[in-house]
Amino acid sequence: MKRVYVNGEQILKGSVKVSGSKNASIAIIAASLLVKGEVVLDNVPRVNDVQEMLELVRSIGAKYDWIDINQLAIDCSELNSTTIDYKLTQRLHASILLLGPLVGRFGECAISLPGNDNLGPRPIDLHLKGFKLKGIHADISNGQIIVNGRTNQDSAIYLDFPSVGATENLILNSVLGNGVTVIQGAAKDPEIVNMASFLTSMGAKISGAGTDTIKIKGVPQLKPVRYSIMPDRMEAGTFMIMAAANRGDVIISGVVNKHLKPVTAKLREAGAEVDEVDGAVQVKSTQRLQSLIVKATPYPGFPTDLQPIISAALTTAANTSIISEKVYKNRFQYIGELRRLGAKIKVEGNTAVITGVDRLLGSTVTANDTRGAAALLAAGLMAFGKTEIINAELLDNGYENWVEKVSSINGSVNIVN
Ligand code: UD1
Repeated sequence: MKRVYVNGEQILKGSVKVSGSKNASIAIIAASLLVKGEVVLDNVPRVNDVQEMLELVRSIGAKYDWIDINQLAIDCSELNSTTIDYKLTQRLHASILLLGPLVGRFGECAISLPGNDNLGPRPIDLHLKGFKLKGIHADISNGQIIVNGRTNQDSAIYLDFPSVGATENLILNSVLGNGVTVIQGAAKDPEIVNMASFLTSMGAKISGAGTDTIKIKGVPQLKPVRYSIMPDRMEAGTFMIMAAANRGDVIISGVVNKHLKPVTAKLREAGAEVDEVDGAVQVKSTQRLQSLIVKATPYPGFPTDLQPIISAALTTAANTSIISEKVYKNRFQYIGELRRLGAKIKVEGNTAVITGVDRLLGSTVTANDTRGAAALLAAGLMAFGKTEIINAELLDNGYENWVEKVSSINGSVNIVN
């Protein structure tokens, strides 16, 4: 395993271009299972989670080829199985997204319960409830989710929590067939809009993506297309927060400004300057950040994936910040590691109270999940002295070329083999 050292208190400056969205890529690779023929995807980030999703679709007969550094061809014409093995599902929670398209295309799928639940238990009840409301049989037996049936009837599904994965799975399941499916209480995330727009460009009939009511009218088949993945708003937000926390001056380009509104608003409230031009943001900060109240909630709220990173930034803010996590039950594991760097944080239930300290001091810390690793990287960049991040390779799951990108804005990261 490589050893990763961060030398902190360097002022971040320069510009960085964000990669394509990891989460949209994963959903769109799943959507490619619905079409016979070669789909070409541009702006796909080369991160481990995307590679895991590609291995999953390859395990059932899909062919893929990296045509260029971020251009991917996928051909799902000749799939040969609807059973997904535990060895693959345990590495990626999003493997659950194979259910919707496989059942939609073949009327059946058996998939081992997904793993990689570093954020605590991640139930899939909403996915199963949705299938059942569509008249499809869905059950869990011996660690496998078994789903059988076709979408041939009209159905209305109400999600009592706007789960991103359940919304995507139910759209993916409803695209082929005869019935009309209406999903109420749907998640509104931009990645869902991106996936729906990919499906629509292939001939699917979907309206309302990006609102809480999505309507899908089944069509007999789709035709393959070339499609470009949206920019990664989590990567963009990570760099924005790092710049603000380091009294930096960083231009983050290749973004969709409206996707970043929750981050932009909070950074401005904390005293950073955020200038928006079309497709880029410039984040400048010349003084200590002010404390914030941040609630991580479903889109368009502040993203849960950026909650660890803004918490790291607020460890040296003036006064006391309050962070509440409303999406996951267990997304504060990184806090014990921030305390090793001198952060003062109390956790009660799903709320963290952060009392700003004058400075963090470098130490050895261990990452537990991708965004937690990003929080430790942000904190290491803020801290006086050297920080060693154990398990820093978790960043490779979601951040393309992160060492090069952080170095290009004057962050000092050294990897020792
Ligand atoms: C997706 C993102 C992830 C992000 C999350 C929330 C991908 C690949 N991952 O994950 O980065 O953090 O959205 O924005 O796109 N839940 C249930 N029952 C269900 C489904 C979900 O209780 O059937 C709960 C989960 O345990 C979790 C919350 O709902 O606490 C959010 O889950 P969900 O929105 O489904 O997230 P994912 O799609 O897994």
